Amino acid sequence: MFKRRQLFQLTGVAAWIYSGVGHSKEVAKVPFRHYAFDPVAAENFQKKLFIPVASGPFGVLDVVGPLKIRATAASFPILPGPKLPISSPFLLYQTEHAGKAYQNPILRIESGTRFTASLDNALAEPTIIHWHGLHTPASMDGHPGSTIAAGGRYEYDFTVRNRGGTYWYHTHAHGLTAKQAYQGLASFFLVDDDDQRRLAAALDLRLGVTDLPLVIQDKQFDVQGKLRYQPNAQESMMGWLGDIVLANLTPNAVQPVTPRSYRLRLLNGSNARIYRLAFVTGKKQLNFTVLGTDGGLIERPESVAEAFLAPGERLDVLFDAGQVKPGADIFLKSLAFDPMENEDPAGAMKEMSGMGTSSSRLDMGVEFNILKLIVMAGERIPVTLPATLSQINTISTEGARERKIELSLADMRFLINGLTFHMDETAFEVKRGAVEVWRISNPTLGMPHPMHIHGFSFQVLERLNSPSQLSATARFGKGRTVGDLGWKDTVLVWPGETVRIAIDFSHDFPGSQTYLFHCHNLEHEDAGMMINFRVKA
Ligand code: C2O
Ligand code: CU
Ligand code: CU
Repeated sequence: MFKRRQLFQLTGVAAWIYSGVGHSKEVAKVPFRHYAFDPVAAENFQKKLFIPVASGPFGVLDVVGPLKIRATAASFPILPGPKLPISSPFLLYQTEHAGKAYQNPILRIESGTRFTASLDNALAEPTIIHWHGLHTPASMDGHPGSTIAAGGRYEYDFTVRNRGGTYWYHTHAHGLTAKQAYQGLASFFLVDDDDQRRLAAALDLRLGVTDLPLVIQDKQFDVQGKLRYQPNAQESMMGWLGDIVLANLTPNAVQPVTPRSYRLRLLNGSNARIYRLAFVTGKKQLNFTVLGTDGGLIERPESVAEAFLAPGERLDVLFDAGQVKPGADIFLKSLAFDPMENEDPAGAMKEMSGMGTSSSRLDMGVEFNILKLIVMAGERIPVTLPATLSQINTISTEGARERKIELSLADMRFLINGLTFHMDETAFEVKRGAVEVWRISNPTLGMPHPMHIHGFSFQVLERLNSPSQLSATARFGKGRTVGDLGWKDTVLVWPGETVRIAIDFSHDFPGSQTYLFHCHNLEHEDAGMMINFRVKA
């Protein structure tokens, strides 16, 4: 870790010197000092956060009527160059709606309404869209078995059955999910309902102003400032890490705020990185309020000082920028943690010598900054939080079958119940309408795995043998932390830990339905840490 930090600083200095020299041909190959984007260094945070507007990239699209979505290769400017932003090859969803053009639109739709979209694959490779967190029939779910070839088309038509919340959509192309999602094929899918409107009215939340979708991703860029994705053996096994941290595709982002409360809809859209989120001013950690998790609002606002966010998970938070003096800087950070705290010392990670090291200059678990908030002068607007946000009906697990799910490692591959993914194999069947408790255990010989279920939301019942960095914040009973509250579709399982979740397999789709259960570390998913399960009619 120390060595990589040192390298980061050295390359930063070298690049700075080179750019000062500025003229020889060799130097011209390094047109841009992206080394200076080290997210550990607070002074690097200078670029205004990208905030979605009514059209264009990540434009907010209120879905009315059918959509025509095109997955296409494009170039997209992410890193700023010496004069113009450096355009980088990127994959995008393009669409037009009500006379406006969008790239990777933030889709917004009312709960209970029909969603109709066609996907045209204008990429040079197969693809498919999965609606992460949505309860759809299997044929609409974007299962890798639905992957369409280049030039193909897929028609989606389903009713949005989910409650209001922050969902998202991304590629689920068979064997290509990690690469394609990393290259851009992902955005938000926001569902509205009465709970959401009540909250917005109570807190004066306006999307794009005081209610900010914020996708956090770590990426690597080559010396030309273009996106890089070349996992070696070690990175394929552990997951691909970036060393430039993007908030809404903005590296080292800054956002001016007034002394009031903001809702941040945080999405971890990274391939493999886990974030330990906290707001910090100077050396002081500031509390924030959690409003919701993966599947919408939790029962009541909960004030906390930190929360983990694993790939695929969402956390809706309310942050009061009025709690510090105007002029102060606040950083949304990822605090240091030990991804292998419970790990068996004779563990697999120690056997990985010879597999190469991560090419990222930012190891998993080091502390760094994500977003800088600058508090502007202005009248302090206090906020009165509603006492209740929503009602969560607890799944009754009386008489429910308890199913053992064991994560494991064999031949440098992570498995689920000893299985690796086969398109036509079904790991097990559950009965439609049944409630099951899944007891997911992760051996000490491993790493943290964010486990995700398609088709159904679940409730976290209990965490056992959690690492101390997690159990220290587990004040919600049965080892649960704030991120375990409400309705979930993704849950992080740490080395040595067991997590029990309750799932109600009721649905109103005709016949049997096959869904996925997989690790949302996208390199793990593509490597087969994924199974099919069938909900039998
Ligand atoms: Cu967000 Cu199957 O994934
Ligand atoms: Cu999903
Ligand atoms: Cu995994």
